[in-house]
Amino acid sequence: MLLLRWPWALLPTITMASNAWHTDEDCGCHNLNSAWGIRTMFERGYNASLAHRASDLKQLKDKSKQTKSEKKLRQALTYELWRSLRAYRSQQISTREAVRKSNVVKILKDPNRNILLVLNNRVYVHREFYERSKHPGHAVMVREACQLLGCPNVIYDFASETTGGSGCEQRTLKLAINKEVGYEQCGVLVPNSYFGGGHGNLTMWASEVKGQDSKLEPFSKRKGKAMYRGSLHPDPDNVFSSERMCSEVAYGNYARISAFAASLDHPDEVDAKCVDGKHHACKLPPPSCVGIVSDFNSGLKKKARIDGEYLDDKEYRNHKYLLNLPGAASGSYSKNLNHLWRTGSVVMQWVHPFVEWYHPALEHGVTHLDVARYSVADYVRALERDPETAERLGSEARRIHDTLLCPRCLAAFLKETFEAVSKHLGQSLVLDDGKRIAELLREHADCSTMAEVDEYRDHHHLPALLREDDPIHPCRKGGPVSNKNWKRDHQAMEARLAYAEKYGLEKNKG
Ligand SMILES: *[C@@H]1O[C@H](CO)[C@@H](O)[C@H](O)[C@H]1NC(C)=O
Ligand SMILES: *[C@@H]1O[C@H](CO)[C@@H](O)[C@H](O)[C@H]1NC(C)=O
Repeated sequence: MLLLRWPWALLPTITMASNAWHTDEDCGCHNLNSAWGIRTMFERGYNASLAHRASDLKQLKDKSKQTKSEKKLRQALTYELWRSLRAYRSQQISTREAVRKSNVVKILKDPNRNILLVLNNRVYVHREFYERSKHPGHAVMVREACQLLGCPNVIYDFASETTGGSGCEQRTLKLAINKEVGYEQCGVLVPNSYFGGGHGNLTMWASEVKGQDSKLEPFSKRKGKAMYRGSLHPDPDNVFSSERMCSEVAYGNYARISAFAASLDHPDEVDAKCVDGKHHACKLPPPSCVGIVSDFNSGLKKKARIDGEYLDDKEYRNHKYLLNLPGAASGSYSKNLNHLWRTGSVVMQWVHPFVEWYHPALEHGVTHLDVARYSVADYVRALERDPETAERLGSEARRIHDTLLCPRCLAAFLKETFEAVSKHLGQSLVLDDGKRIAELLREHADCSTMAEVDEYRDHHHLPALLREDDPIHPCRKGGPVSNKNWKRDHQAMEARLAYAEKYGLEKNKG
């Protein structure tokens, strides 16, 4: 299985800061480009990680016993879903005219064409949707989720990065996979697109989980060090030289360099090394953010040996403590983290400001540990003296996977999100009337570039554009024909997923 041979940390873990929001007029002042964003990034990133200490070692044992029920874990996500939705609109929309005026048309007019439309459990996007790196994965996940569970009709703008935060109520609803500095930013969070071979493919994700599970080692036999491998974002032109750049793109490097420094200071507790994915020696970049972040290079000298050997996925299963570092480019989420919870090892999250859709359920000391340069080794030492607490934190991590990140969990959360969006914004009043939505699409959107999301292999094989007279075209006069094949598709999806959960991918399908 090819998938399993790719160590997760070496897949490009970066989420490049998309430039979209720099020019996005729909974007408020609460983004990383604003004074608020920069200050928040410094407070919750640089300053918080520098100040972080293991000051709660005495309470760790008791705290870790406060396991949360599955219901509680899920409720935390539901609560944030509705909070972020109400930030757009405090009141539910209940008349058809209001729906039309307030959101559906606004979404249809999106100049960036990041629209995703679910109608009759068919998923539609503009062809351009596939040109953006994280979008196809999102479309695939929605397609599989709706085949698996059935979805309400819904329409929204999809954003890989978040937009502003102040005055969300003046903006068009966006579903986003990440908020770079915190929950206050606008957007409703949905799962990132990197599950299942980086394709957002739930079947592949199930197969991958199954493959790894069969090889897990007993916790007590694992190595008692905090393990990490990852790269640094090169900065040959030394652009990390203003407050804005340091807040937008340099936090990932800062955190990673701090982790490598902690590893040099505490080789018995921390094994965090730099690898560049090409088996070359990884070098410390020249000090960045000079005069802005005083400890940027963690006091490491130019020649410091931060590089280490490449470790394969076996090493992720045989360490008790797995570090997650923010993405190298923008200090945002890293796809590496998707893979850590299921190992049953203790997840150690380097202090970071970004949030993802399941983060509302996380709690330091219960589901994972927050760590940084001056706390990571202390936590490892304390847990090595208290294996019971260590193992408990490891099994809580696994419960996060089983409750929130498993293939069916991702599908269920997408469906829940669509139900909430549809209900709160009254979308069903318009979308459930095929004739009506077709009219609106013809009036406000570009019907010539619509495609139905189908099996996705890679960006060389994109779905064909729908012909104008295709009976499933959402712009068709009178609306698209009903989806009589859904039940059959649903059964096929259910069977394929059940097979993948049990045995992996079906052989004849590669
Ligand atoms: C971060 O810490 C530095 C140094 O202690 C301080 O000057 C700065 O005001 C802090 N920034 C924020 C946003 O808290
Ligand atoms: C997901 O992967 C499976 C197995 O390779 C494939 O059969 C299925 O069509 C994929 N789903 C999508 C929406 O691409």
